[in-house]
Amino acid sequence: MKRKRTAILISGRGSNMTALVEAAADPDYPAEIAGVISDQPNAAGLGIAVARNLPVQVVRREDFGSREAHDEAIDDALSGLGAEIVALAGYMRLLSAPMVQKWQGRMINIHPALLPAFKGLDTHRRALEAGQRIHGCTVHFVTTEVDDGPIIAQAAVPVMIGDDEATLAARVLKAEHQLYPLALRLVAEGKARMENGRTVFSGFGDERENAGLFIVAPRPSRDGIDLEQLARITP
Ligand code: GRF
Repeated sequence: MKRKRTAILISGRGSNMTALVEAAADPDYPAEIAGVISDQPNAAGLGIAVARNLPVQVVRREDFGSREAHDEAIDDALSGLGAEIVALAGYMRLLSAPMVQKWQGRMINIHPALLPAFKGLDTHRRALEAGQRIHGCTVHFVTTEVDDGPIIAQAAVPVMIGDDEATLAARVLKAEHQLYPLALRLVAEGKARMENGRTVFSGFGDERENAGLFIVAPRPSRDGIDLEQLARITP
């Protein structure tokens, strides 16, 4: 198996980056992490990547006159890494249209809400304010519209009575760390592809593989929530 070289773009903490790196530590995982690029020199994720001996590169927005020029520099860095797939993991900048178009179908993002609900920022606060009983996260192909690309996989979590932004964010983040490696796997294997603005799935030899497309986590129980007991629903 030829593993797909994947670059990760971050701006901050890097916990989703770490989840992808840990998944790719398995030689049977279909993607390998070629390197990490950050627009923020102080991103905590950079230290984690360095500690794991991954090539890291900082491409600061301030060093370029326009968004397009910044994106071109990132694109050069991606070429240098030989990247075939780009995974945005808390990358907090809007990408220019030429960049998105160049990588269309090969660039994915994780968003902390069940799209198409709650695009943009402050998703957990808005989900609480809306009185949602179910919230979650989405991995999607990146298109020129922000948080709007074809959905690859989603994870749903309950909104519990008494939740605040922090408790809800923590529950969603735990699900993100499960979901992103599953979704990258599907893209790297070519089982989830973007065609005509839609995600097309193929090559599922076994119905159980559908479990990679959605996760319901955690399973509420009488004794509260056991985050380790992820309930994967299979048809
Ligand atoms: C995550 O919640 C992700 O969904 C969003 O930004 C956050 C990044 O967190 N796009 P981390 O840097 O991966 O810890």
